Amino acid sequence: MAAKKSAAKKSPLLRMAAIALIIAALPLVTAACGYYKLKFPEEINMADMGAHSGHARHTDTNGEAGGGAAAAASCADMAEPPSNAPVRKFELTAQKSVVEIGDGKTAEAWTFDGTTPGPELRVKQGDRIVVKLTNKDIEKGVTIHWHGVVLPCSQDGVAGVTQDAVWPGETFTYEFVAKHSGTYWYHSHQQSSEQAQHGLIGRLIVEPRQSAFEYDLDYAVTMQQLNGKHWLTNGSRNGAKLAAQAGDRVRLRLINSSSAVQWMGVAGADFQVISMDGQDLNQPGTLRKTWIPIGGGQRYDVLFTMPSSGKVQVYSKQKKTLSVTVGEGVEPGKLDKDAPVFDFTAYGEPLDDGITADMKFDRTYDLVLGPIDINGKRFHEIPPIIVSEGEWIKIRIKHKLGEEHPMHLHGHLFKVLTKNGEPLSGSPIFADSIMLSMGDEYEVAFKADNPGLWMEHCHNLEHAANGMSMMVNYEGVDTPYRVGTKSGNLPD
Ligand code: C2O
Ligand code: CU
Repeated sequence: MAAKKSAAKKSPLLRMAAIALIIAALPLVTAACGYYKLKFPEEINMADMGAHSGHARHTDTNGEAGGGAAAAASCADMAEPPSNAPVRKFELTAQKSVVEIGDGKTAEAWTFDGTTPGPELRVKQGDRIVVKLTNKDIEKGVTIHWHGVVLPCSQDGVAGVTQDAVWPGETFTYEFVAKHSGTYWYHSHQQSSEQAQHGLIGRLIVEPRQSAFEYDLDYAVTMQQLNGKHWLTNGSRNGAKLAAQAGDRVRLRLINSSSAVQWMGVAGADFQVISMDGQDLNQPGTLRKTWIPIGGGQRYDVLFTMPSSGKVQVYSKQKKTLSVTVGEGVEPGKLDKDAPVFDFTAYGEPLDDGITADMKFDRTYDLVLGPIDINGKRFHEIPPIIVSEGEWIKIRIKHKLGEEHPMHLHGHLFKVLTKNGEPLSGSPIFADSIMLSMGDEYEVAFKADNPGLWMEHCHNLEHAANGMSMMVNYEGVDTPYRVGTKSGNLPD
């Protein structure tokens, strides 16, 4: 790199080439920076499958799916069936507040219950979660999306797809059973890019009935970027400080609620990555001085034993104020900037679950990612992925150009099959998101076992707001809700 740079300085030819390259790249850069802000249509039915054929879309007025199939079921009717699961009730109020962010500094924020992140909801696997959302004064309307949770369509919290935005003075009650244990989070999915950044986020921790791992302490931390400037860990610019004694086994749940990738290092102890996106890994090995890249929306749980020196530090490579200090004691040394990077494709031990790249799939889809587009299209122009209940679906995702794209699927867990053509050799990886860097190609698979209308989008929410967002629609499922300027439902 250094050699190239000095050469460019000396050679006018190289310099011209460099300038030409920059000029050629300009449209991409401006696109990525949001100059081509997506214009929302007046009214769109996201259940419309007409786009799948590649023909121009139409906005239907009689509530029927545009693909010709008669709508048999409505997302609005897909609710959690009654059961005798233990009920946990919560109330969350979306409201404007001034929050303290450390060092006597304050910031204006949009919050759940006056803080950002909002209250941590901690439940047990199998509990029935009932959350009453009240919007006090967020004029643009709010919803709550339960990021990573497999739940019925009507509870997914996507404005204009699974419900109408909740306007000031209104309420909406969410109800679902927490089937899978793990680390999750919640955020508004009405203008999610703006609203999550302003602070409408929180944690949902589903403790396992029976844990595959043993630990004495269980902590969760949220990393966020508030109002586009303050980098906060659990709401503070001084990082999170957690108590632990030498010898304690600590489970630390790291949640990246910002849009940027956070490269997190663990210093002071050997550790294991025991879970990704809330899903346990099989026989995870011991890691030392390794960076973990966590994409926007992703969660990584690490497990370590507190050393006799008393202190473990987890911190971001790039952002000084994103850090977690566990215990008190001797300051551990930092990681080298070029320390190894965690590679989940060859970590832990395989398990034969029968889900492989060469099994039979009912449908296969290709997604090619640009800077803010999927297959060269944006938002409602992107033909939806169509599935039928019971089918196995494979999605091939290729990242051609741009920043990292943590691609997130609602309502399902998918299995990561291959990276750059190579099957994973370690633990099975089930997740709700897969982060791609430029040049990466992944194959993922999921079983279509949760009928509904589900978003699939980049969780760099600025990218999503610019149109990097599409639908996975079950055949024969419709919605009474509409996205667009007419209803005011603008999910991203
Ligand atoms: Cu946190 Cu549509 O996502
Ligand atoms: Cu992206």
